Amino acid sequence: MVRTKILKINRRNIDLNIVKEAARAITKGKLVAFPTETVYGLGANALDEAAVKKIFKAKSRPADNPLILHISEFSQLRVLAKHLPRDAQLLAKKYWPGPLTIVVEKSDLVPSVVTAGLPTVAVRMPSHEVALALIKTAGVPIAAPSANLSGRPSPTTAEHVIEDLYGKVDIIIDSGPTDIGLESTVINISRKPYLLLRPGRITLESLSKCIPIKLHPALKKTTKPKRPESPGMKYRHYAPRGKLILLVGDRTKLIGVINQMSKEFKEAGLTVGVFSPFKAEFEADRAVLCYGSKEEFAKKLFMALREFDSYDIDIILVAGISAKGLGRAVMNRLEKAAVYKVINL
Ligand code: TXA
Ligand code: MG
Repeated sequence: MVRTKILKINRRNIDLNIVKEAARAITKGKLVAFPTETVYGLGANALDEAAVKKIFKAKSRPADNPLILHISEFSQLRVLAKHLPRDAQLLAKKYWPGPLTIVVEKSDLVPSVVTAGLPTVAVRMPSHEVALALIKTAGVPIAAPSANLSGRPSPTTAEHVIEDLYGKVDIIIDSGPTDIGLESTVINISRKPYLLLRPGRITLESLSKCIPIKLHPALKKTTKPKRPESPGMKYRHYAPRGKLILLVGDRTKLIGVINQMSKEFKEAGLTVGVFSPFKAEFEADRAVLCYGSKEEFAKKLFMALREFDSYDIDIILVAGISAKGLGRAVMNRLEKAAVYKVINL
């Protein structure tokens, strides 16, 4: 058991002394959970093999799932990458700092424990003020997966991190809820064709205006690849304790079917939760309803899953959205969490 210290940092008025304390912990090989604009990350000095190993242990993360390196300046990418594709510069200029992770060939400087033995490395420059200040002050790239226990929904508040990792990490920085609520978009530009490996806030549609890029076959519902391109693809993430049923289709029919299912599950003695991108009269023990925007639905998704768990909800009925733009990322996370998907209602 580690003694976990919780440090509050106001992102609008950053106390550099607190940042220095957290940065010192990083350079000493300790674990620091910190906010980013997407989700909270569990950070360690990426160049310190022993420190990186602690991340895998604290999260119970399989050793074959590689980590993202977080940087605060573009020049750090030059050091971490073997060759810098010209398009990396283009992408960084347009999207960094921001929720885009770029996979490139790795340099010898990157320990293989970070990349799970892969010849490539994933790098991103987050835009959250506190994350940037921490990386800059530490002076090293920070390896950080999402700061949840493996298999739990990603954390969008410091409370979520405390739930999963208290007593397992040295410092948890609390700067309030994150902005986006879904993890970064991951793309592989280490070879052609460039592939989108994980959808996020930076959409395929937007990236396509900048570089030629394709959706990884595993993200297309119709085909299944023999081997996952991104090790993260093969794990069933975000599993809430309750069984999640994802429903897609016409809004009026959706409301009717959700209420009918809800009634039947309740009659069978089960507790039911509903998560919906719109407001309606739902029959549920617990409901998280959003106000019409995809952004709001995305931001609340992981929080809702944790809320249902905390109320011991047995069945989570979710109204899906169209898988375009940010909707692709939302549906990707919901499909991973779902036990069943009902389509074409
Ligand atoms: O928004 C985010 O990306 C958050 C915050 C903390 O930055 N981090 C995050 O990390 O979501 P994590 O470890 O939960 O997800 C990293 C994903 C995994 O699916 C992993 O397999 C993939 O990136 N990945 C990492 N390195 C890779 C590589 N070299 N090639 C392919 N995929 C890689
Ligand atoms: Mg994760």
